[in-house]
Amino acid sequence: MLNMGISRCSSSKLVILLFSFLLSNISMATSVPEDFIPCLLSHANPSHPISPAIFSPTNSSYSSVLQSYIRNLRFNETTTRKPFLIITALHESHVQASIICAQKHNLQMKIRSGGHDYEGVSYVAEVPFFILDMFNLRSVNVDIESETAWVQAGATLGEVYYRIAEKSKIHGFPAGVCPTVGVGGHFSGGGYGNLMRKYGLSVDQIVDAQLVDVHGRLLDRKSMGEDLFWAITGGGGASFGVVLAYKINLVRVPEIVSVFRVPRTLEQNATDIVYHYLQVADKLDEDLFVRLTLDVVTNNQTGKKTVRASFIAMFLGDSERLLSVVNKSFPQLGLNKSDIIEMSWVQSVLFWTSFPLGTPENALLSRTPQVLTHLKRKSDYLKKPIPKDGLEFIWKRMIELETPMLTFNPYGGKMAEISPTATPFPHRAGNLAKIQYATNWDASGTKAANHYIDLTRKLYEYMTPFVSKNPREAFFNYKDLDLGINHNGDESYVEGRVYGIKYFKGNFNRLVDIKTRVDPGNFFRNEQSIPTLPK
Ligand SMILES: Cc1cc2nc3c(=O)[nH]c(=O)nc-3n(C[C@H](O)[C@H](O)[C@H](O)COP(=O)(O)OP(=O)(O)OC[C@H]3O[C@@H](n4cnc5c(N)ncnc54)[C@H](O)[C@@H]3O)c2cc1C
Ligand SMILES: *[C@@H]1O[C@H](CO)[C@@H](O)[C@H](O)[C@H]1NC(C)=O
Ligand SMILES: *[C@@H]1O[C@H](CO)[C@@H](O)[C@H](O)[C@H]1NC(C)=O
Ligand SMILES: *[C@@H]1O[C@H](CO)[C@@H](O)[C@H](O)[C@H]1NC(C)=O
Ligand SMILES: *[C@@H]1O[C@H](CO)[C@@H](O)[C@H](O)[C@H]1NC(C)=O
Ligand SMILES: *[C@@H]1O[C@H](CO)[C@@H](O)[C@H](O)[C@H]1NC(C)=O
Ligand SMILES: *[C@@H]1O[C@H](CO)[C@@H](O)[C@H](O)[C@H]1NC(C)=O
Repeated sequence: MLNMGISRCSSSKLVILLFSFLLSNISMATSVPEDFIPCLLSHANPSHPISPAIFSPTNSSYSSVLQSYIRNLRFNETTTRKPFLIITALHESHVQASIICAQKHNLQMKIRSGGHDYEGVSYVAEVPFFILDMFNLRSVNVDIESETAWVQAGATLGEVYYRIAEKSKIHGFPAGVCPTVGVGGHFSGGGYGNLMRKYGLSVDQIVDAQLVDVHGRLLDRKSMGEDLFWAITGGGGASFGVVLAYKINLVRVPEIVSVFRVPRTLEQNATDIVYHYLQVADKLDEDLFVRLTLDVVTNNQTGKKTVRASFIAMFLGDSERLLSVVNKSFPQLGLNKSDIIEMSWVQSVLFWTSFPLGTPENALLSRTPQVLTHLKRKSDYLKKPIPKDGLEFIWKRMIELETPMLTFNPYGGKMAEISPTATPFPHRAGNLAKIQYATNWDASGTKAANHYIDLTRKLYEYMTPFVSKNPREAFFNYKDLDLGINHNGDESYVEGRVYGIKYFKGNFNRLVDIKTRVDPGNFFRNEQSIPTLPK
């Protein structure tokens, strides 16, 4: 038997290095600019004091507040640059005060909601900075009658799912698989999950928003206007303002859905099965989403390394119909009735993130991630199936590199029906699947990080012939600083265009126009923010 325990949420293939490095160079936070705190105190709403929300490095809770939402241990090193202050907003006026005072003092502000940014962009910076932390602003108000909900930025996806299911067994929401991911980053950056082929992305179901802009004004969709609303539904919030909340449309799900997870190694015809999967994955019934994860395991019968292809399905229907859909469109999988499990939609969320069957639903409310590791992610878009000799080539390279995993998330269905300009997210019709490259490791230190990041980059290089080119597209929510870094200096537009075109294709220009209008001084900036037009 092979180890079957791949976590869908944060792939848990850990590598324990036999060496580790002690780092003596402690990266201290710089001191707080003198007038900043008085400014904050004077700008907050008097009936909502801001002082309990302010954590300076001398505060005994500073480290735990900082670490609570670090979701990539690569940025939990002693050498990682730390903020000179953390403001854990308790009220919208704290957000407004932070923006106004930070501009007055020309400070770099990082906005953090769930902290799942793959490159730590929400809580790390090259220059002195502070964090505006949104985790306290996390209410979820579900209204079944209108089939909508108002969701604050600091809520997690697990909280959103749980609160919906608490009120209805036939409603759900199309968003990500990992329950600890934050609404603030996830929704503003596109947000996809296993309902994507039926209902599109999270942003396709957003109908209103609350945003604090560069002037500290609290805006809704109407007062911000359609351009800015468009920008913050896929263009990333952090370039445009601080998102306080989104209003979402709930979607209908059947009372019973069906799932399966079927692994096949090379010895079990994985090549043939993956080949056929890539012919059909984007053309299947819209009720069916089958993710494919590829990793390297040891076949303990032969003692040899092999590639394992795991097919994980979400089906909006019962097991009988699922079996007939798969039997008809993808018989090569050899799916059996006994592979399929029927459950409620909210239980399928638990299944997909690899909780054991029978885990109570309130596990979705936990803010402790199931897996916390050092990680690197990259992404690609697949436009056409990979030929068999291509697959053989990929297997060879995977076995040589061993650690990086690949995950294919099929498109088609609703994804292909929505115009590529409807939201900033441009990857619609014409895409077979998005690929994620994932490497996780346990050892801290730069040497280990460089080693595993290098493996991930190598796999990405090997995949070049099979994926999109000119531009080689990427998914914005899978932040990857290899695609370019914006130093936000004189070259800002030139630097921003490099990654901007990969993430947003033709929508990049409109994002730049909107950015230039709403934040001409480029206050809302980070390593991969939308630049303003050159003056
Ligand atoms: C374990 C794991 C699983 C994931 N699974 C999925 C998945 O299934 N589907 C998917 O689409 N993505 C997935 N992602 C990627 C995830 O969607 C993005 O990393 C997302 O940006 C995380 O949002 P966050 O609020 O948790 O992150 P944060 O790190 O807090 O923020 C991410 C970015 O958004 C900005 N931001 C955060 N809050 C606000 C706000 N209120 N206003 C303005 N800007 C803000 C930050 O400044 C930063 O630039 C996953 C990531 C991880 C680590
Ligand atoms: C293979 O390894 C797993 C544990 O990793 C073990 O449970 C199983 O019995 C092994 N199978 C064989 C055939 O050795
Ligand atoms: C730490 O900061 C919090 C919030 O501002 C405050 O309530 C607390 O008294 C501070 N503790 C110390 C030891 O400074
Ligand atoms: C993050 O780093 C701190 C300080 O070294 C350490 O105490 C903490 O355990 C680390 N967090 C995790 C989850 O490893
Ligand atoms: C692999 O495929 C071949 C030919 O399609 C078939 O004969 C064989 O039984 C399959 N093996 C497995 C393990 O499914
Ligand atoms: C699958 O389809 C074949 C015919 O194409 C049929 O003979 C078989 O009974 C079907 N099996 C299931 C489980 O539906
Ligand atoms: C499906 O189930 C049948 C009967 O239980 C079994 O003989 C067969 O090996 C199974 N097929 C697969 C692909 O697991």
